[in-house]
Amino acid sequence: SEEDVVNITVVDRDGIEFAIRGKVGDNVMMLAQNHDVDIEGACEASLACCTCHVYVEDPYFERLDEADMKEEDLLDMAPFLAENSRLSCQIVLRKDLDGMQVRLPVGTRNMRVDTKGQQAQ
Ligand code: FES
Repeated sequence: SEEDVVNITVVDRDGIEFAIRGKVGDNVMMLAQNHDVDIEGACEASLACCTCHVYVEDPYFERLDEADMKEEDLLDMAPFLAENSRLSCQIVLRKDLDGMQVRLPVGTRNMRVDTKGQQAQ
């Protein structure tokens, strides 16, 4: 229904803005992929990579639940880490995120990590 609609904007590496109409409960990484944003999401939202790294613009970054330790560990391996970095597959849309803008970093690094967050061979 209309009450569930959450509009967000995703800005890709080339600066192209995707205006995306999502809904409460949507996973931002999957939503972006479904709208043809070139976002990798190598581990398919299983919190085992950092290729879904995005920057979340103010004031929305502060509204998100804090990243858990696993996400923090993965973010530490992401190139171009910033204060407002998050893994987009861990962002689930809520009504108060309507209007959120997320931006893709200029690069990502695809590396496999095991479930303890350590780098695998
Ligand atoms: Fe791998 Fe988000 S897609 S952590």
